[in-house]
Amino acid sequence: MLGGVLLLNALLSYWFTSDTTWGYHGKYINWRFFKHQFSPKLSLTLSELAKYDGSDGGQILLAINGSVYDVSSNRDIYGPKGTYHSLVGKDAARVYVTGCFRKSDEYTHDLRGLDAEECERDIKSWQKFFHNHRDYWYVGQVELNYDFPENPPEPCQHIKFPG
Ligand code: HEM
Ligand SMILES: *[C@@H]1O[C@H](CO)[C@@H](O)[C@H](O)[C@H]1NC(C)=O
Repeated sequence: MLGGVLLLNALLSYWFTSDTTWGYHGKYINWRFFKHQFSPKLSLTLSELAKYDGSDGGQILLAINGSVYDVSSNRDIYGPKGTYHSLVGKDAARVYVTGCFRKSDEYTHDLRGLDAEECERDIKSWQKFFHNHRDYWYVGQVELNYDFPENPPEPCQHIKFPG
């Protein structure tokens, strides 16, 4: 019965739009997103997260202040040869705020010394970007530790995301 309704829906859609899903190609019909919806959310340590950097051709994850997102569908950007490969397999919350990509100690979730409002705004908006993106999704949390070195990274000239 349900199968028949789905088939009829697909046929009608194809008849009217030459597409079986009424032109919709978003994440809700992506089988990988669907699978994630029904699998338990991950709870990783930072060293477990480090394995998901795509260097083995597998799943690529990045984290922003504890929230972990799957970005495997964009290997061009996040894979080993990608422009933003430096963001994966870790929680580099700080660099989403500062934009200081060339400074290696920015790749941390240590937000000390940064403006609280700027952190709030930039971190929330990048989390939202990955959460709502059609090809990326939230997969769980990474357990953060706060045993940082005595001093936070040196201040740097912040670079703003264009647009
Ligand atoms: C706070 C500063 C910045 C952050 C956190 C940031 C982060 C990112 C991220 C995460 C993406 C990938 C988006 C996706 O998955 O589709 C991206 C894409 C991109 N960014 Fe940045 N970015 C910053 C600044 C800049 C600046 C200053 C430029 C320009 C000079 C730039 C140029 C680009 C371009 C061209 C892309 C598209 C890459 C592509 O499609 O291959 N970004 N950025
Ligand atoms: C980062 O995560 C911590 C712990 O969950 C939270 O208290 C803090 O508000 C978050 N910061 C930002 C800027 O989102």
